[in-house]
Amino acid sequence: MSNIHHDSAGLTIEHLSKMYNRSAKALDDLSLSIQAGELVSFLGPSGCGKTTTLNCIAGLEHPDTGTIRVGDFVLTDSAKKLFLQPEDRQLGMVFQSYALWPHMTVADNVGFGLRVAKIASSEIKQRVATILELVGLGHVAERYPFQLSGGQQQRVALARAVVTEPRLLLLDEPLSNLDAKVREQARTWLRDIQKRLGITTVYVTHDQAEALAMSDKIAVMSAGKLEQFDTPQAIYEQPATRFVAEFIGATTFLPATVVQHAPTLSQVSLSDGTCLEVRTALKLQQHQTIDLGIRSERVQVATSDHQTNVIAGAIRSSDYLGAKWHHQVETTIGALMVETLDYTSGNVRIYLPPEALMVLKAA
Ligand SMILES: Nc1ncnc2c1ncn2[C@@H]1O[C@H](COP(=O)(O)OP(=O)(O)OP(=O)(O)O)[C@@H](O)[C@H]1O
Ligand SMILES: [Mg+2]
Repeated sequence: MSNIHHDSAGLTIEHLSKMYNRSAKALDDLSLSIQAGELVSFLGPSGCGKTTTLNCIAGLEHPDTGTIRVGDFVLTDSAKKLFLQPEDRQLGMVFQSYALWPHMTVADNVGFGLRVAKIASSEIKQRVATILELVGLGHVAERYPFQLSGGQQQRVALARAVVTEPRLLLLDEPLSNLDAKVREQARTWLRDIQKRLGITTVYVTHDQAEALAMSDKIAVMSAGKLEQFDTPQAIYEQPATRFVAEFIGATTFLPATVVQHAPTLSQVSLSDGTCLEVRTALKLQQHQTIDLGIRSERVQVATSDHQTNVIAGAIRSSDYLGAKWHHQVETTIGALMVETLDYTSGNVRIYLPPEALMVLKAA
């Protein structure tokens, strides 16, 4: 690894806005900083502006306002009409479609950028070999892309993107063409390589599980705006807005009133009088109204150990998912989704652990 050195620097985006043909703003005053060596995921629904952000960083789009810097190196300064050409930005990119050159071997695909940069052929050979070893493809260097699996092709695309030692790596849904199993393994090796290279990375995805698993931080976007920028844990445990809570898996939202606030467990009551214990970092006031989001994957069937946060329900329908059962349960507080390992039916008691309940400030 000693001969792969990435000159690590952070990425700073300030007041980025972009409008295509006078339609709604694709980006609306987006600002954030990524530390050197961090992997940050841009997560959000289709059309929220993820690719537009990436294309602005890459120099493929010119934003209407805003600046983009890597360390002190200015890539874009809209006010000064400064837009570096993509090839002058010192970045590596991997897209959804890997677009390898079909008539070139794996080694030639990976070495292409180095040949363009007129690096000596002996050095190219050595750097290509090192990087192919790193992505675990040393043994297929002389094959052509059609002789590789989808996952292997994507590794070649990654090797090609990092062999030129870019200061920034941009990845736009790079795993979405892979099937579920390969995709999960790819997450792990991609993150591993990114860490070993220590390269600052922007990762675009609309898959929340992928973002949670891979990122140092997640930027959740909605309609061109940043909704929340924080660690995966904070995004999951303390969603800042209802939008973020919904995007990461809350299915039911209920209005509630604070009965008693305490730093560890607070008590809230629902409109039907049901009292629940919740855990929150928010400072709540007595009688304050809040929105309670219920994270369905944390809801359980109650056992005799559960004394609080238990409500009565009846299973209305059940789906078999292989590893578990997924039930639609009618309860006094509304319909809830519950997962169990074994088949269950009829009347059940439902346990809502405090970590299944997210406290959001009332809108
Ligand atoms: N070239 C373009 N011309 C006009 N409008 C565009 C263009 N590219 C994107 N848009 C619009 O800008 C908005 C943001 O698009 P963008 O491609 O950045 O979304 P995204 O978050 O990457 O979505 P997806 O998850 O579907 O890839 C959308 O409303 C889209 O329709
Ligand atoms: Mg996109």
